[in-house]
Amino acid sequence: MTTAPDIRTETPPPDFPFSWDGTRVPAEVEELRAATPVRRVRTIAGDEAWLVSSYDLCRQVLKDDRFSLKDTSAPGVPRQYALTIPPEVVNNMGNITGAGLRRAVLKALNPKAPGLLARLREDAHRLVDLMEAEGPTVDLRDAFCEPYSAGMHCRILGIPQTEAPAFLRSLDIAFMNSACPITGAKINWDRDITRMTALLDDPATHGLMGELAALRDDPDYAHLTDEMLATVGVTMFGAGTISTSGFLAMALVYLLTHPIARDLLRDRPDLIGPGVEELLRVNLSIGDALPRLALEDVLLGDVRVRRGELVLVLVEGANLDPEKFPDPHRFDVHRDNTADHLSFGGGAHYCPATALGRAHARIALEVLLERLPDLALAVPPSQLVWRTGFMKRIPERLPVAW
Ligand code: HEM
Repeated sequence: MTTAPDIRTETPPPDFPFSWDGTRVPAEVEELRAATPVRRVRTIAGDEAWLVSSYDLCRQVLKDDRFSLKDTSAPGVPRQYALTIPPEVVNNMGNITGAGLRRAVLKALNPKAPGLLARLREDAHRLVDLMEAEGPTVDLRDAFCEPYSAGMHCRILGIPQTEAPAFLRSLDIAFMNSACPITGAKINWDRDITRMTALLDDPATHGLMGELAALRDDPDYAHLTDEMLATVGVTMFGAGTISTSGFLAMALVYLLTHPIARDLLRDRPDLIGPGVEELLRVNLSIGDALPRLALEDVLLGDVRVRRGELVLVLVEGANLDPEKFPDPHRFDVHRDNTADHLSFGGGAHYCPATALGRAHARIALEVLLERLPDLALAVPPSQLVWRTGFMKRIPERLPVAW
């Protein structure tokens, strides 16, 4: 057994995250996975953590309930970054389940809801119409990815599309990775909860928020406050919109910087489904790592992780591990195990909206590649400006031409 560096004696650990650039895998990742797949790092908050970078060990952490997501928000524990939401909201899906709302939420996240996919396709066409009317160049994030994602979430929540810009604006701060608490995060949170609470009282509200509003008349749900119901709406809008629009933007960055992959999906639309899965595997959308707190001492590879220590699951480390995905940097829509990627997490906190996330990206790519077959970056990739200190890697602008 090789001896791994010990979190308690070795100094100084490298800073994590390594890089915000979404066009290349940080050089450190392969080195770490090969030499020290459980490696101590210093987080944005200035605390120490174990960074896990091989597929098997990442999966082990996600599947083992002794590594807790909920407890990463406990007072005094090492942190990846300061919280931007109330601590109790970190265990969002756990709270939803505990409040008896899991069924309603999962129903809303089902892409098979009548008419949803057809509306998504209409939305995508309408946004391309606007892009065409404006003419190149266009910022694809601003003109397509964000309004398309935010619009889908308004549909799911059953709130007017006109609400999208206000809820969308909060996300730039809500998903920041900062060393210290952010004043604007609380201001936005309170405003969004007030806004969503008002929508509960609006007779036009339908969808998930309409269902939640109706529960207020049900004595079995008397324990639920309006604030709890509004929290479900605000967190679903936030988690869902940032994940879907972020992934879509990064899938497009990948295709526009890998023209062979773009041409393949454009010329063979039947391959867009498996293409989305492979894009989920190779994309670098997650800018940080999935955090867990060890509730007990646990042996992880060669390292005994101690109770109370922070463990960070590096999804790009797992998804590009050659032991799991041979020739991992090759975009191959025919891999037989692509869907084993960890881009939706794994274990107890596995994303509840995987089918919706996949359908959202598939329809967007079908429409964009059909309507704009020559879609290309309008600037050299080196000119893309990458957002720093954020949970997702995203280009600030994605200028395209066609
Ligand atoms: C391509 C799109 C998406 C990606 C890549 C994605 C990714 C992820 C990942 C990696 C996790 C695990 C987090 C962890 O283990 O710490 C997760 C969990 C979660 N996601 Fe998604 N997600 C997507 C779409 C969505 C959508 C559309 C929604 C809701 C509208 C959503 C809601 C959630 C929630 C509530 C959780 C927490 C689950 C729990 O704690 O049990 N996601 N997602």
